[in-house]
Amino acid sequence: MRSTPSIEQFLPLQSDLGKLAYQTLQQGKGALSLAHKVVSNRLSDLVVPERDKGMELPPEVLQKITQLRQQLLETDWEDAEKGIYPVSLLFDTNWEDTLQYYPQVWLDMANVWQRVREKNYQDFQTPIDKENYPKYYLQNFHHQTDGYLSDQSANLYDLQVELLFSGTANPMRRRILAPLKEAVEAFRDTPPAQKRVLDVACGTGYTLQGIRATLPKASLYGVDLSPAYLRKANQILSQIPGELPQLLHANAEELPYLDNYFHSVTSVFLFHELPPQARQNVINEAYRVTQPGGTFIICDSIQALDSPEFAPNMKNFPIIFHEPYYRHYITDDLVKRLETAGFTEVQTMKHFMSKYWVAKKAASVA
Ligand SMILES: C[S@@+](CC[C@H](N)C(=O)[O-])C[C@H]1O[C@@H](n2cnc3c(N)ncnc32)[C@H](O)[C@@H]1O
Repeated sequence: MRSTPSIEQFLPLQSDLGKLAYQTLQQGKGALSLAHKVVSNRLSDLVVPERDKGMELPPEVLQKITQLRQQLLETDWEDAEKGIYPVSLLFDTNWEDTLQYYPQVWLDMANVWQRVREKNYQDFQTPIDKENYPKYYLQNFHHQTDGYLSDQSANLYDLQVELLFSGTANPMRRRILAPLKEAVEAFRDTPPAQKRVLDVACGTGYTLQGIRATLPKASLYGVDLSPAYLRKANQILSQIPGELPQLLHANAEELPYLDNYFHSVTSVFLFHELPPQARQNVINEAYRVTQPGGTFIICDSIQALDSPEFAPNMKNFPIIFHEPYYRHYITDDLVKRLETAGFTEVQTMKHFMSKYWVAKKAASVA
């Protein structure tokens, strides 16, 4: 007599199918991004032939990029399978925004070309009160129309980042989640709902979305200097289950929170966009607002010293995308900056084109 198969027998198959679905989704994103880059580069060659295109990447660099992208996606899948965050997070693509805003990426290209041709990096079409922002912030980062300071920019930003990183922006952001979960869970005597996590420069909220999926009960906070990006973050985060993170408009150099308030603080893709002193100021503030025993986790671009094989990419990036502080950033010693602020036990790691710093605030601070 044949016995009825148990649900457990199907679990490996379900897992294999899930992984295949995730890989297929990422391959699709990779192919679409490549097609977008090829067509937009050809058009840019026609319209702005005089622009600096950077150097061509040697085949071994391209090969290494493919290999590291694969590894990143593998780690992303493994972390989901380990239960650090739900597998469903891996499939959480905002297709509605993609369809709605992709045509606008193309329509906006004429504005980008004009700024590139004129080498105009401080062009704001939407009226803004310049007094409210540090000078270093008033830039068309990535040649974006209105920099970070309009709703149009907030609507296009994630799509542009997805195209730039071929669908790996969220997998890179998610690499903060395993160390974050460990750090927050280390506060064993604190009930989950009383654990507080702050995301500094939260932008349109995708890191907070990952944190919400990883720590469903924690109290989440986000701070950013762009009112438009915060509006967008509010829109995105309102659609997911769980308590809405508290979002505040502020300069990360002067965080509007009490000392020792957060169990953990995170920051993703901010530091390469700050001048050196602002980098130190933000780290000092992160230290001030982190509880003793808490952790600060940074995710940002790879750097020159520990990723020499990607020197051509690091050379091209600030040329092709307006990134005025990137050259300094890639040689900046963030471990030293973290230690100067008071953090200890700083660990670093790399995934694909991103680097991570996990720093502790000692449990008993003298
Ligand atoms: C490259 S985006 C990264 C956004 C988001 N963390 C992500 O993962 O997409 C940089 C963000 O930093 C914010 N930002 C830059 N300088 C800042 C500052 N001094 N204080 C607060 N936010 C800042 C920008 O408004 C923008 O949202």
